[in-house]
Amino acid sequence: MRRPILAANWKMHLTRPEARDFVADFLPRVADASAAEIVIAPPYPLLGCVGQCLAGTAVSLAAQNVHPAERGAFTGEVAVAMLVELGCRYVIVGHSERRALFGESDAFVASKAAALLSHGLLPIVCVGETLEDRESGRTFDVLGAQIDGSLAEVPGERAAEIVVAYEPVWAIGTGRTATPEIAQQTHAFVRERLRERFGGAGDRIRIQYGGSVKPENIGVLMSQPDIDGALVGGASLEPASFAKIVHFESQEGSQ
Ligand code: 13P
Repeated sequence: MRRPILAANWKMHLTRPEARDFVADFLPRVADASAAEIVIAPPYPLLGCVGQCLAGTAVSLAAQNVHPAERGAFTGEVAVAMLVELGCRYVIVGHSERRALFGESDAFVASKAAALLSHGLLPIVCVGETLEDRESGRTFDVLGAQIDGSLAEVPGERAAEIVVAYEPVWAIGTGRTATPEIAQQTHAFVRERLRERFGGAGDRIRIQYGGSVKPENIGVLMSQPDIDGALVGGASLEPASFAKIVHFESQEGSQ
């Protein structure tokens, strides 16, 4: 009942020619993958170019960040309406790199999610605990607070449209994926918290896993009942690799 959603977060990677080559190589590989929703989030300067390459295809365009204000003196920032003009459908907000490196709070993330929804864009709201949080037994406290705080301004009637990405910080870019058991257990907690907050809509919200997702582990992750997709960094930079992930191809044991 929840359509899988596989999203590429290119972070601060790829040039314009590389992005064009990526899309040209990637699209034929996923032409038959209509069961899953596919999203690509390039860096801001590539949104126009990648958006043009994706026009008329089933692959959605996403931005990696946004500022919640309509307009104003916010040097270096980008407003929601600008992303609408570029053809974005989704925007990643609250990524752990934004939280840790740029000091973004739950309240700031919440205001971004609200601004996006009010303009017809859909937030992919990221949450995740650090290794220190997990080792000190605070995972669920931290995640609960992030979910409550970051979704504080999502109106109940719009809740089912948002996407939540659970990305354990210790698994991002480390090659250390959460085991399927840990991922499912944590996703089940996130789901329960969403139900508490939004009632039945909590069952319709898609929850992505993120953190060292690759073709070798996507199959087993996607077989977990509360994992509805993936937010992929490093392995989304190669068309063949991301296409395998879109197809949930588990290559376990073949490499
Ligand atoms: P990696 O897939 O490179 O671990 O990155 C995950 C991530 O942060 C996606 O947003």
